[in-house]
Amino acid sequence: MILVSGSTGKVGQHLVSALKAKGATFKALTRSEASLKALAAQGVEAVKGDLGDPVSLKAALQGVDKLFLLSAGSHFGPLELGAIEAAKVAGVKNVVKLSANGASADSSNPLMRAHARAERALEASGLAFTILRPNSFMQNWVAFFSLGITAGQPVYVNAGEGRLAWIDARDIADVAATALTKPGHEGFVYDLTGSEALNYGEVADRLGRLLGREVPYVPVPDAAAFEAMKGMGMDAWYAYGMVTLHQGVRRGLAEPTTGTIELVTGKAPRSIDAFLKENIGAFS
Ligand SMILES: NC(=O)c1ccc[n+]([C@@H]2O[C@H](COP(=O)([O-])OP(=O)(O)OC[C@H]3O[C@@H](n4cnc5c(N)ncnc54)[C@H](OP(=O)(O)O)[C@@H]3O)[C@@H](O)[C@H]2O)c1
Repeated sequence: MILVSGSTGKVGQHLVSALKAKGATFKALTRSEASLKALAAQGVEAVKGDLGDPVSLKAALQGVDKLFLLSAGSHFGPLELGAIEAAKVAGVKNVVKLSANGASADSSNPLMRAHARAERALEASGLAFTILRPNSFMQNWVAFFSLGITAGQPVYVNAGEGRLAWIDARDIADVAATALTKPGHEGFVYDLTGSEALNYGEVADRLGRLLGREVPYVPVPDAAAFEAMKGMGMDAWYAYGMVTLHQGVRRGLAEPTTGTIELVTGKAPRSIDAFLKENIGAFS
């Protein structure tokens, strides 16, 4: 039995579909009553629980031998450390952890240090593990920029002209589904990217061509990005993480592509052009 945390998010919803398609035995974890009902309506076994609530987590982990570990928000590091400990106690054998490109104890980015701490805890746990380190998700364009683009506003990011090897979250889900259902992935750290690195302006131009109107990208200074994210209600820790992430993009850290998706799944990564075409309705 596999437990999928993050099952309602950008990656997890596609992992649920991929595991369903494979006929795998799994249950989906969510904190939300509405998502619990929506998952059940799709024929998915769902369990209500919170990675930060040891009682619900212990119940959710009953009978589980493999865990897909994903969390989000400003407390994701401690949540994941607790979940690894709980998984060990519950007798889980194998954890596939969603980490991030650039996860490192030496990073200036607090998000990457938090991912690195969880990676180290997982390696030290004695559990079998696979770590997935994806680059930036194509789905961010829908989640974070589509409202502004629809309203005719520019895309503002402190990423300069730095390129990112954008990845489709469905490819991450396919890699996770493979690692959770097939042997031979234990102990691996997978750097996951799409096949083409583009800067924000280049993606905006391609989107603009599809929409038949200009989608401007405005590179902004770090301090302006930091203040804008805090102004939108993001806490300083997370906002600083996003600012330093894009400082890294400017230094070229997100540009290299890897062939790891094809190596694991046997399929080439989905392209950003296909993603934009499929999701054009979200921007128009
Ligand atoms: N976006 C990117 O470009 C990018 C790139 C590399 C790595 N990452 C990493 O990807 C992760 C985020 O993945 P995502 O974008 O797919 O997530 P997301 O769309 O932000 O959704 C968050 C998911 O986490 C679950 N969750 C949050 N807090 C939880 C808690 N306390 N207990 C149980 N579940 C909890 C939510 O479940 P419910 O709300 O249903 O409970 C939801 O399914 C982060 O670790 C991030 O660092 C992101």
